[in-house]
Amino acid sequence: MSMKILVLPGDGIGPEIMAEAVKVLELANDKFDLGAELSYDDLGGAAYDRYGSPLADETLERARQADAILLGAVGGPKWDAIDPALRPERGLLKIRSQLELFGNLRPAILYPQLAEASTLKPEVVSGLDILIVRELTGGIYFGQPRERKVLESGERFAFDTLPYSESEVRRIAKVGFDSARVRGKKLCSVDKANVLASSQLWREVVEEVGKDYPDVELSHMYVDNAAMQLVRAPKQFDVVVTDNLFGDILSDQASMLTGSIGMLPSASLDANNKGMYEPCHGSAPDIAGKGIANPLATILSVSMMLRYSFNQVEAADAIEQAVSLVLDQKLRTGDIMSEGCQLVGTAQMGDAVAAALKNL
Ligand code: NAD
Ligand code: IPM
Ligand code: MN
Repeated sequence: MSMKILVLPGDGIGPEIMAEAVKVLELANDKFDLGAELSYDDLGGAAYDRYGSPLADETLERARQADAILLGAVGGPKWDAIDPALRPERGLLKIRSQLELFGNLRPAILYPQLAEASTLKPEVVSGLDILIVRELTGGIYFGQPRERKVLESGERFAFDTLPYSESEVRRIAKVGFDSARVRGKKLCSVDKANVLASSQLWREVVEEVGKDYPDVELSHMYVDNAAMQLVRAPKQFDVVVTDNLFGDILSDQASMLTGSIGMLPSASLDANNKGMYEPCHGSAPDIAGKGIANPLATILSVSMMLRYSFNQVEAADAIEQAVSLVLDQKLRTGDIMSEGCQLVGTAQMGDAVAAALKNL
């Protein structure tokens, strides 16, 4: 099986965390004889600087040709004031949309060693293992029309549109049900059906899809309540399926249950499990260039890539095990630091995971 991987380090801490993820990937490549071939390109601000566009046509073409894509993060203050159509984030949205990566899996798993690192009480989060399935190529992120203008009165005015078609909801609902079926068999669909027409359709279609999954227990929850329940009693959830914007917000919130946003990997998949893999966090401009970012979310994204795109279960498991061993050694970056542990930087953390993987 061909394993051509396009690596897009991106901006801010992107290149720092990606260096560590690639270190681990190359080690796994040797150890498990995966035959991975890596190539590199730019996305986001780095691409704007190099090509004048946050996603150059040639980069998109390389992404199409690749078997999987590994992404760091994009964006930063340097590009905040440029034409909105050329912002780094637009490059990310375009690659997701062009490759039809509609199924975004964001697992929030608490490593037991990090129970003290969460801002929530250990008993609230211990054993936490939830999966957020976020719709990634529709909804208010892409809805047309959208406009910003000055009204005749002189007032500034802007609006976005939140559309969902039946087929868009159906396909993400299936991802939710399929995921739940191989886990705890519980799916909670999160919407705002008490207010939004798009959510009313969402709920209706999810109900219909549920008829094909009698073995999965389906529930519905309004997003405001879901946000509250996520911090009150997060372990009530198994799989959560939700729209693009709600999923963005709830996954950052869920990340803190695991100790840090620096722990959350993600997979963005098309209908054939071709995927792009990236940490859920951003380019963290506040700590970029300091060598202190947590690379584990990106390293765990490599594991998801090997699992979902290449079915290399042994290698994927080994990377997760190596991460766990490093946490056993009490090595911590600043974001997951707690008493009695040793503070390490990005590269030391990556080295430690690579060493643990090598010795497995
Ligand atoms: P952010 O996720 O970059 O940072 C939020 C906070 O979390 C910051 O304090 C940061 O230091 C911390 N943090 C994030 N990742 C960390 C890590 N690996 N280790 C330790 N601490 C970490 O969110 P933001 O500040 O709202 O956004 C910054 C930029 O990133 C913006 O331009 C935004 O658009 C972009 N962004 C990109 C992605 C992506 O590429 N997928 C995701 C989110 C935000
Ligand atoms: C994410 C990010 C992106 C999103 C931004 C950078 C466009 O926050 O991947 O979670 O909102 O999807
Ligand atoms: Mn986000």
